[in-house]
Amino acid sequence: MVTSSLQSRPAKVKKRMAQDRQPEEPPKTVVKDGKMENEIIQVKHLNFYYGPSQALFDVSMSIPEKRVTALIGPSGCGKSTFIRVLNRMNDIIDNTRVEGKIIINGKDIYQPGTDVVTLRKNVGMVFQKSNPFPKSVYDNVAYGPRLHGLKDRRKLDEVVHRSLERSALWSEVKDRLSDSAMDLSGGQQQRLCVARALAVNPNILLMDEPASALDPRSTTKIEDLIGELRAEYTIVIVTHNMQQAARVSDYTGFFYEGRLIEFNETRKIFTNPDHKQTEDYITGRFG
Ligand SMILES: Nc1ncnc2c1ncn2[C@@H]1O[C@H](COP(=O)(O)OP(=O)(O)OP(=O)(O)O)[C@@H](O)[C@H]1O
Ligand SMILES: [Mg+2]
Repeated sequence: MVTSSLQSRPAKVKKRMAQDRQPEEPPKTVVKDGKMENEIIQVKHLNFYYGPSQALFDVSMSIPEKRVTALIGPSGCGKSTFIRVLNRMNDIIDNTRVEGKIIINGKDIYQPGTDVVTLRKNVGMVFQKSNPFPKSVYDNVAYGPRLHGLKDRRKLDEVVHRSLERSALWSEVKDRLSDSAMDLSGGQQQRLCVARALAVNPNILLMDEPASALDPRSTTKIEDLIGELRAEYTIVIVTHNMQQAARVSDYTGFFYEGRLIEFNETRKIFTNPDHKQTEDYITGRFG
């Protein structure tokens, strides 16, 4: 249940929240089974523009820590744009503009002086099309740790081993560490990309349709992997697959034409959504 409540907050926090928010919208608090969730990501009044064209409109959302949040909605509704805002991946697209606040771990990530390399270490990303580097399996996973200064071979070996274990790939590649990553299957390449993201110890993992190019068996592996990782990481996953969203996520946000129409616990979204547009979408009436 998403409720608006200031009651249990200390006066200092109340004051800060009162300053942060626009008068017309009270802050949202995510409450699950009567317990308040820790909101690791807070998005406030986000507008996003590609040149003159606006792609996101006044999106406000709190994403709970160590939960899986799914983002759904028809093609072109802004899911990828939104997820890329969370680790400033849109920065690399010319002529884009962000308004509003994105607070991650208490810090506004669009504040001048934000170290984007550190941000992306903390907020890792896996894309729809797996994109391993044309290097060995080992060097793909070791890439991030090396970039962040880890040189000791024994420690690198450990990180590579642990990351491949966590991404459920170790048993399949342990004898192929020096083979090219390009020789792995599509599903293996995608799990390698997960391992590469995990190797730098992120808190948050963003996944933009990570299984949409995979066969059912590889898709199941990715979903199982999300199930494994959920205890340790905050996961935000974009998916077109309703069953997948319902299977893997705790919370779901439904986007339509650049707006967040509804955000709630997944079981509520899929059984009794508040908005007709959400219902029409999840029942396949459009999209
Ligand atoms: N690099 C870009 N330059 C200009 N416009 C873009 C760019 N990327 C996305 N857009 C536009 O922004 C809007 C949202 O696109 P976005 O890719 O975020 O949607 P999406 O929900 O991820 O769609 P899909 O489900 O097809 O992946 C669309 O109108 C799209 O044309
Ligand atoms: Mg997309």
